[in-house]
Amino acid sequence: MKKGTLVSENGMLKEQTSDLFADMNGKVILVTGAASGLGYADARMLSGLGCRVVMTDIDQERGQALAAELGAFFLAQDVADEQRWAEVMTEIDQRYGRLDGLVNNAGIAPIAHIENTTTATWRATLATHLDATFFGSQAAIKMMKTNGGGSIVNMSSTAALVGIPDYLAYSAAKGGIRSMTKAIAIHCRRSRYGIRCNSVHPGSINTPMVQTALRELMDFDLNHADDPERARLKMGIGEPDDVAHMVTFLLSSMSKHINGAEMVVDNGDTVT
Ligand SMILES: NC(=O)c1ccc[n+]([C@@H]2O[C@H](COP(=O)([O-])OP(=O)(O)OC[C@H]3O[C@@H](n4cnc5c(N)ncnc54)[C@H](O)[C@@H]3O)[C@@H](O)[C@H]2O)c1
Repeated sequence: MKKGTLVSENGMLKEQTSDLFADMNGKVILVTGAASGLGYADARMLSGLGCRVVMTDIDQERGQALAAELGAFFLAQDVADEQRWAEVMTEIDQRYGRLDGLVNNAGIAPIAHIENTTTATWRATLATHLDATFFGSQAAIKMMKTNGGGSIVNMSSTAALVGIPDYLAYSAAKGGIRSMTKAIAIHCRRSRYGIRCNSVHPGSINTPMVQTALRELMDFDLNHADDPERARLKMGIGEPDDVAHMVTFLLSSMSKHINGAEMVVDNGDTVT
């Protein structure tokens, strides 16, 4: 992809591309869960803007291949493993000497309601979302403090705002991320670190996670629909770049006065 161009269908950000490129060029950004869906879209958009992107994922093979395509740096990481966070940060420090942005994006979405959620599912979901966002934010702040600031973007969901019955543990985890984000933002503000922390709340976006949900809950395969694009629009499902635009904005200095905010990207699903 050409450096400095945004991946966008409607070209809305085109006029700002050169300013945005100047702002983002060279920033060191860590994106977790970057081997698929939203994390990959973030990594691709940020790489296109000249960022030095560190992609991490438990899926080493896919992550490595995608990072090679983007010219990004890949590290295998289970975000629920606290020790691995320390190792990842040391690696970033040795390689770049700074960290400007963290996108706590990795996630799982087991389908289970209050009556059939097992303790194992509950714990795994909270570990992957809540523990990881805690570990990641703590580790990132330690490093960002030394380079005078940064931006943390925590991937939550509209599940944090409304609660989704078939995603009990997921709704709880995303709700926790929403309020943890605000607590982090206020701590960093009063400590004058120059570090901002915001949460993003996508509705349904066309990624493997949502494709699985459609198959399991509605017996519908979006990829095998007669006209997948038409079906996506009809079902009100967004594209990964819709979220990547928001993430990029929150990592850029265009959002310098936005802190502790919850940015909903759902085409109005939660207001109707
Ligand atoms: N797709 C949506 O509609 C939607 C909506 C709201 C929120 N989200 C959130 O966005 C984030 C990305 O979701 P997606 O739709 O791209 O899903 P996805 O399944 O396409 O990608 C998730 C990625 O996270 C990785 N991952 C899972 N567990 C991990 C772990 N323990 N350590 C490191 N990596 C791990 C997976 O290997 C995968 O590459 C998640 O936090 C999800 O909850 C997605």
